[in-house]
Amino acid sequence: MTDLGLVGKRVLVTGAASGIGLETARLLAREGAALVLMDRDEPALDAVAGELRAVARIGGDVTREDDCEAMVAAALSAAGGLDGLAHCAGVSDHVARALEIDIDQWQRIVDVTLRGSFLACRAAARVMLEQKSGSIVTMSSVRGVIGSPRRHAYGPAKAAVSMMTKNLACEWSLHGVRINAIAPGFIRTPMVQRLVDDGKIDERILADRTPMGRLGLPLEIARVSAFLLSDWSSYIAGVTLPVDGGWLAYGGAGPVATH
Ligand SMILES: NC(=O)c1ccc[n+]([C@@H]2O[C@H](COP(=O)([O-])OP(=O)(O)OC[C@H]3O[C@@H](n4cnc5c(N)ncnc54)[C@H](O)[C@@H]3O)[C@@H](O)[C@H]2O)c1
Repeated sequence: MTDLGLVGKRVLVTGAASGIGLETARLLAREGAALVLMDRDEPALDAVAGELRAVARIGGDVTREDDCEAMVAAALSAAGGLDGLAHCAGVSDHVARALEIDIDQWQRIVDVTLRGSFLACRAAARVMLEQKSGSIVTMSSVRGVIGSPRRHAYGPAKAAVSMMTKNLACEWSLHGVRINAIAPGFIRTPMVQRLVDDGKIDERILADRTPMGRLGLPLEIARVSAFLLSDWSSYIAGVTLPVDGGWLAYGGAGPVATH
């Protein structure tokens, strides 16, 4: 067995009530981390915090600066410091053609994705830079790497999260704080299930276009987050790591099996 060295590490997980954040919190709990959990869905968050015996839980919206500062203050008062941030809070695509997009919906997706990531990372780094140690993981997406029609808020904002992660790594690495992004492919979470149910994406087409022939599991993202939070990734900074079953590697047209 590999020991990631996360026992007793104080880790804040945003978006902890569902999907990738929930599975990340569960894995970190199994690894012995002291968890501070944040989400805007407070009833669901309460249940998760109870299940995982989190040291603190706090409801809030990552687009609000005071909520981001409050979640870090909660970590400080409950755990005395902050060693890691897994920033998983996010919203899905507003799938619409550019000429038809509702600009308020566009703005909300950009705000949750980019402003929320910046505010959460900055709040955590205030403490980590003082400590001169810490590791932060942000969530980009394969949609932030390749171009897609009808994804005019989500994809560009995810590309910006990757660039933000690079820039912050350039500023913070020398001071003991690492920051990296993960670009998940298509992961079986409630977010993706809602898109499937609404007919916005076709699960079979996505699986066929994925070299591994299937969607990913939230645990497969959680494991990479745990690795990036741990000292096993001690010389990795500023990367966006695709975790996508080979989806970005494939440059052909149509299902992989037909090539
Ligand atoms: N599932 C995928 O296939 C996939 C692919 C690429 C990237 N991602 C990214 O991974 C992250 C997690 O996605 P998921 O699939 O687990 O989604 P999810 O909908 O299952 O979970 C997202 C969680 O974030 C919370 N949240 C949303 N907006 C918030 C806000 N403003 N403040 C606080 N909490 C908020 C929600 O309440 C929810 O609990 C997102 O950033 C998403 O864009 C997911």
